[in-house]
Amino acid sequence: MIFSRALFSLLALQICAVNAFPAYQSLAGLTREELDVVIPTLKFVPPPSPPGPLADDSTKLVNDAAHPFIAPRSSDQRGPCPALNTLASHGYLSRNGIVSPVEVINAVQEAFNLENSFARFLVYSTFLVNGNPITNLMSIGAKTSDTGPNPPPPATVAGLNTHNNCEGDTSMTRADFFFGNNHDFNETRFQNVAKISNQFGAGKYNLTVAAKLREFLFKDSLMNNPTFSMVSPRLFTAFAESVFPINFFVDGRDKSGQLDMDVARGFFQKMTFPPDFHRHDGAISSEGMDVVFNNFPIVPGANQGRVNSYKPDPTSATLSEPCTRYSNFVERNIKSLYPNPTGVLREALSINLQFLFEATVAAGDACTQVFPFGR
Ligand code: HEM
Ligand SMILES: *[C@@H]1O[C@H](CO)[C@@H](O)[C@H](O)[C@H]1NC(C)=O
Ligand SMILES: *[C@@H]1O[C@H](CO)[C@@H](O)[C@H](O)[C@H]1NC(C)=O
Repeated sequence: MIFSRALFSLLALQICAVNAFPAYQSLAGLTREELDVVIPTLKFVPPPSPPGPLADDSTKLVNDAAHPFIAPRSSDQRGPCPALNTLASHGYLSRNGIVSPVEVINAVQEAFNLENSFARFLVYSTFLVNGNPITNLMSIGAKTSDTGPNPPPPATVAGLNTHNNCEGDTSMTRADFFFGNNHDFNETRFQNVAKISNQFGAGKYNLTVAAKLREFLFKDSLMNNPTFSMVSPRLFTAFAESVFPINFFVDGRDKSGQLDMDVARGFFQKMTFPPDFHRHDGAISSEGMDVVFNNFPIVPGANQGRVNSYKPDPTSATLSEPCTRYSNFVERNIKSLYPNPTGVLREALSINLQFLFEATVAAGDACTQVFPFGR
């Protein structure tokens, strides 16, 4: 009797599912047809619904005894987002950096007071392109087998480090992908943050600094990175991330809107809360983003393989088009990774897409829902 490779994998997976669920087999190397046999047999738990807003969103101590900083082990995932890195290093997220969407929403609400609809959109959009829909797990850093057997290519399931899914150019403290390492803390870039904070903020990072730094970062990438791209979704995240350090990294008891450089370095580099850190007083998202945008309004676009060759992309959503952002993201970014999903993979994607759409409803955007895989 001849056993196909697919059947072997199928048996191995079923055995693993009975013993310890995370002991995944790799499905790499199977053909599309073989995967169509195996994927539907994987143990699939429909993803749970996202939580609602916090009942009490007042400020409180979050760097507490129950959440001590423990430096990551070499096998733990850390990536481009200083907030998620910090939450993992303090145990608000799994310390190994392998997370589920609901876990992230709970953590960013509890420890940073991220507004609920904003958190949901951020998390489901990121998860749909960088996470594993079947196992409901995502790496906050690099691609790893710890998120389970991968759905078939062109899906990447490669974690937050993946360039141009959510990660993009002009980060404050991470280099552009073109220059190599787009996810680890970069001292040269942090020195730019410090320099511009000295110039415009008396040594602190505030909204005036945020606007000047964003302008500097755009011009820097424009003139040095031939692959510089600033289309949606990066257009949105770039401007939002400019104000995140003010909105989330300043202690909730301090209403000044001025972020100390040592505290900034703590989050961006050391992935730790300052001692006695209290979260923001009240749920908040990207307040202040308009000030940063109006200082240096940039149209979506990209360099054309040469430095200083920026060409506007009229098909990209602009900052005032949240529904185009949503529908383009679903129909381009997600659909390109999952052109024709079947079985539980399609089911898992559809549930997560529903959660993504509901986040736009909760945000009051009145978008028309799109169904890339039918209803
Ligand atoms: C309290 C909530 C959050 C805060 C304060 C925050 C803050 C930031 C900041 C400041 C950056 C820019 C780093 C830099 O430019 O050097 C960043 C990057 C990033 N964050 Fe977060 N973040 C939060 C939540 C999230 C969530 C929920 C996700 C997704 C699940 C996420 C995914 C990312 C990604 C992919 C990047 C890389 C973007 C890039 O710079 O290329 N973040 N985050
Ligand atoms: C830091 O970023 C700059 C570009 O902004 C890059 O030239 C340099 O190589 C980066 N350093 C490291 C260690 O990646
Ligand atoms: C930022 O700091 C500078 C220097 O103290 C100050 O002039 C400016 O008004 C501040 N901007 C904001 C928005 O706090």
